[in-house]
Amino acid sequence: MNPTIELLLNRKSVRAYENHPIEAGTKAEILKATLRAPTAGNMMLYSILDVTDQAAKDTLVKTCDNQPFIAKSPWVLLFLADYQRWFDYFIACGVEQLCERKQSPLRKPAEGDLFLACCDALIAAQTAVIAAESFGIGSCYIGDIMENYETHRELFDLPRYVFPVSLVCFGYPTGQQKRREQPQRFARRFIVFENRYQRLDSGDFDEMFHEQQERAFKDKADMDGCANVGQLMYLRKFSANFTLEMTRSVRAMLAAWIQD
Ligand SMILES: Cc1cc2nc3c(=O)[nH]c(=O)nc-3n(C[C@H](O)[C@H](O)[C@H](O)COP(=O)(O)O)c2cc1C
Repeated sequence: MNPTIELLLNRKSVRAYENHPIEAGTKAEILKATLRAPTAGNMMLYSILDVTDQAAKDTLVKTCDNQPFIAKSPWVLLFLADYQRWFDYFIACGVEQLCERKQSPLRKPAEGDLFLACCDALIAAQTAVIAAESFGIGSCYIGDIMENYETHRELFDLPRYVFPVSLVCFGYPTGQQKRREQPQRFARRFIVFENRYQRLDSGDFDEMFHEQQERAFKDKADMDGCANVGQLMYLRKFSANFTLEMTRSVRAMLAAWIQD
């Protein structure tokens, strides 16, 4: 098997880190590779914050749904979807005057621009994850960074057209994390289709979730009043408080982003 495929197949999230820092040279190489990630229009519609301030990490533990390992990670990178830099550049270049001359309204970053910037930021994040992995450095995404938008905006001085779309914790994995079993994935036929999207029916779902169902409900008839994985995921993830907060927070960000 080629070493890139082997690396990709063996990766798993790492949430407990050895107590030693990542060398500056290694960080520099990871960042160099990260900045080579594909980017829409070669515009690099993202910024990366290296969160070195321990007090900020401690705050992130709380604002990201109480995940203590964030504070213990030796390298925490915040990936920001960023249209501010380009919009500031447009203004600095006199696009307002250009628009006046052309008698067309000044266009500001809108929803599509935000999604594109999120794509850029996430692709950069995943590039960093894989580059780190190649040095034996584990990582874990923190999706909860999309919660508490107002707090994060203030904590990191984020302007209007910058959205913290992903936080990634890095560190050398502890022995326990190295030994930890890799989570399973759904079979390819449920995820990869040819030409046309395929809605799944209840027979497909029985097959798709069979193993998870067996594992989760082994020796238990019921969990939280739930009879199956779907009910459990609905309660514990899809309608959980952190998910509701994420929706509120993203709406608040979007309202600020698209206001006139
Ligand atoms: C967008 C995104 C957000 C995530 N957020 C969290 C998180 O907040 N906390 C956490 O412990 N893991 C988080 N993860 C890691 C996933 O739980 C993990 O990737 C998944 O369980 C599969 O496990 P694996 O990465 O070990 O294969 C996140 C992953 C992604 C891609």
